[in-house]
Amino acid sequence: MPARLITIEGIDGAGKTTLAAGLREALVARGIDAVALREPGGVALAERIRSLVKDPRLEIADRAEALLYAASRAQLVAERVEPELAAGRWVLLDRYVDSSLAYQGAGRGLGLDAVRAINEFATAGLSADRTLLLAIDPSAGRARRGDRGEDADRLEREADEFFARIAAGYASLAAAEPARIRTLDATLAPEQLLAAALAELADLFE
Ligand code: TYD
Repeated sequence: MPARLITIEGIDGAGKTTLAAGLREALVARGIDAVALREPGGVALAERIRSLVKDPRLEIADRAEALLYAASRAQLVAERVEPELAAGRWVLLDRYVDSSLAYQGAGRGLGLDAVRAINEFATAGLSADRTLLLAIDPSAGRARRGDRGEDADRLEREADEFFARIAAGYASLAAAEPARIRTLDATLAPEQLLAAALAELADLFE
């Protein structure tokens, strides 16, 4: 069975982290060696970039933001993702290129083509074998995140319209690539969501 790159996507508050942990356990129980990583982060350089992009005190222009996420991704791919896949381990990635397409391309309005191009360069063309999109209404996502007030990071401070553009961006990405991107109902209970996610991966286990 070839090692696979599985990515998990959705707006903030959709429950990606919980699903990633559950999936990793379910894969290991099937005898599949799997690692779970998150973006931005996962390796030292990317964790530093993560603290920059989240810092509410920094002014970051939209194009700079897109390049910072792409730089973080380039390092993670080179330092962890490629070596893990080469060693035969499956990689579960909490956010990948689709996050930049949705947040920077649609949310910030930079457009899909430009964001796709810098990410082609960043990843040297490594794409996900399957993507699980956790769909949730932006207002429900906000409610789940709770009111973090002063603790909210730079992106969490954005207005509802920003998250509505991102959710719409994700939906059009999924409509354009139905074989790769499988949409799941993020309001399902965690066990049901995990079962639905495994069903969308079933053909990869054969
Ligand atoms: P994080 O706390 O990881 O958010 P979540 O737990 O919801 O995944 O912070 C990542 C933030 O960065 C999140 O608001 C989404 C945003 N982001 C982008 O805008 N573009 C990207 O390419 C990536 C990977 C994340």
